[in-house]
Amino acid sequence: MSEPSRKPLEFDVGLLTGTREIDDQHRQIFRFAEVLLTSLRGSAEPAVVQAAIDRLLEYTDAHFSAEEEEMKRLSYPRRAQHHDAHVLFRRELDILRKDFTASRNARSAGIRLEFLIVDWFAGHIHHLDRDLATFLQGQRAGSRIRDIPPTGAPVRPLTERDPSNPKARPH
Ligand SMILES: [Fe+2]
Ligand SMILES: [Fe+2]
Repeated sequence: MSEPSRKPLEFDVGLLTGTREIDDQHRQIFRFAEVLLTSLRGSAEPAVVQAAIDRLLEYTDAHFSAEEEEMKRLSYPRRAQHHDAHVLFRRELDILRKDFTASRNARSAGIRLEFLIVDWFAGHIHHLDRDLATFLQGQRAGSRIRDIPPTGAPVRPLTERDPSNPKARPH
């Protein structure tokens, strides 16, 4: 049964780092996480949930790679710590995926996802990503974090029931 109301996973301006590419990608991760949470809370078909998990995983991988390429290029001093945090978060998303595949427990996956995004990912942005963005903004050559449009990450075809599918929305 879906819950009557819940606060959507929304990117808050308080999470801005001031580096456009990073902020755009964080915003997109929140969007994909919200699509996934909606599918979990709405008792969507397991295949739809799996596709939403995969889309979030793929985009998150692309974003972490973009940050890490730039950290390496500029010999960012906290690179190892930042990389370890990415590995940890990625591992947690993998666990969420595996657990859902095995149990189909949407409620448990939803609770874990909210924790990972609201607590963990937002905390990561506040501390490590802000520190990185400040460092990038201090570089004379400027940041070359690559753009990752939502369509740039390999994704599976959207279904009619997928809330991120424009065809599924009334006009
Ligand atoms: Fe980030
Ligand atoms: Fe990061």
